[in-house]
Amino acid sequence: MDRGALGERRLVVAANRGPVSFHSDPSGEPIVTRGLGGLVTVLTEVLRAHDGTWIAAALGDEESRLAEQDRSVEVELDGDTYRVRYVSVAADMYDKYYNIVANPILWFIQHYLWDLGRHPDISPNERDAWENGYVPVQRLFAEAIADEAGAGGAAGTAAGSGALVMLHDYHLYGVAPLVRAALPGAFVQQFVHIPWAQSDAWLVLPKDMRDAIFEGLLGNDIVAFHTPHYARNFLQGCVDLLDLPVDPARLTVTVGDREVWVRAYPVSIDPRALRKAAGAQRVAAEEAALLARRREFLLVRVDRLDLSKNIIRGFLAFDRFLDLHPEFRERITFLALLQPSREDVEEYVTYRERVMRTVEQINTKHGNTDWMPIDVRIQDNFPQTLAAYRHYDALMVNAIFDGMNLVAKEGPILNTQDGVLILSENTGAFEELGAFALGVNPFDIEQQAEAIHEALTMGAQERRTRNEAIRAVVDVNSVERWVSAQFADIAEKLDAASR
Ligand code: G6P
Repeated sequence: MDRGALGERRLVVAANRGPVSFHSDPSGEPIVTRGLGGLVTVLTEVLRAHDGTWIAAALGDEESRLAEQDRSVEVELDGDTYRVRYVSVAADMYDKYYNIVANPILWFIQHYLWDLGRHPDISPNERDAWENGYVPVQRLFAEAIADEAGAGGAAGTAAGSGALVMLHDYHLYGVAPLVRAALPGAFVQQFVHIPWAQSDAWLVLPKDMRDAIFEGLLGNDIVAFHTPHYARNFLQGCVDLLDLPVDPARLTVTVGDREVWVRAYPVSIDPRALRKAAGAQRVAAEEAALLARRREFLLVRVDRLDLSKNIIRGFLAFDRFLDLHPEFRERITFLALLQPSREDVEEYVTYRERVMRTVEQINTKHGNTDWMPIDVRIQDNFPQTLAAYRHYDALMVNAIFDGMNLVAKEGPILNTQDGVLILSENTGAFEELGAFALGVNPFDIEQQAEAIHEALTMGAQERRTRNEAIRAVVDVNSVERWVSAQFADIAEKLDAASR
């Protein structure tokens, strides 16, 4: 990083979720764990490279209490200290913003999950959620950011104007123009961690809403995605929906007298930290439990319980595999580790029920008193995940669409069996790892069934070669590199502006 250009800037990162979750153990003692999802890991890495403050919505009682202080507070986890400013959002407003607009509306558009003959309706309820949920939350975040970035000088003064603001994800599409208005000299970047859908998918939204989303993102100096494909979709959307001039070669959009850069930085994991975490005592205990039940073959999947992850088709493929290859009966378990997610959203509740029904049907069809073909566990248990990563023979990542998918990177780093990665062509990770994985079309159940068979019968040498290649890619393209590439572009754009 060019510290000359950036070192003095006050860094503020913002995401809906903060770095930690506060809970209490069964005896009521408070415990702090890492926030769910890969976003927390990668933002931690950003803050390691450049000290700063993290702005997040206050999600529970403890966070609401911290939000009342109207300033940043220090929270500690596993030796990392975070400075966090919690934004207090009234429960009803948060519900409209998170459970109606962000999920499912935006999430479903961006992962092509809407079943357009039936859903969604943009009725007064959705309009109300936009106006009285999503839009005001953008303002609350922008105010907190301006306040933090301007601390040590009023917002808009030299200190505030020299800020570097890094916004994250689809919860905050309207924040950048508000921050720019409050801190005219701030540099604002936004990272979209999920796919960017092609233009027609956005036509689900009324024009004023979709324009606000595009214009909101164009309030940034740089808009970042995980892959060049999503960056191109965004540029094309600017042409199709806003009729703006874009330069596809330089990856820029011109908005009035400003030039917005659109860039791709494939996010990754920190292999060293993951290996260290896998050495913990709790992981060893989970491994012992897993090995005690292990059949000859172990197929694993690890996902949030989300429609985009394509969990049901993965089970149907396993069902088909058992039909086609009865010689594997009783010799294999499909261990599905699913973390509960967005349980106040109706679509997720229904999906969970469908997932469980499918598992029951397949287990009844193929299983017996001694053998349960699919072992599904709906819980958030990271040590168990790390144990499963170590021992799979095949790892299924068959997402319908996925911004990156870090499971595809984490699994091979820890796996000790030279297990095979089955990877959906529609994940961001496929652009980096597809050549060494068994690529699958996530809708093609027959192909996924064949991929399971191919994975389990592949020769040892080929499995080793593929795994070594994946590990080499992940070790080199680490999250550290993801961070430094972004800081390098920010420095370059600042430099270009000052010339
Ligand atoms: C994805 C999104 C993140 C989100 C995470 C977990 O990875 O890109 O922004 O935090 O899912 O979802 P949740 O709704 O639980 O925050």
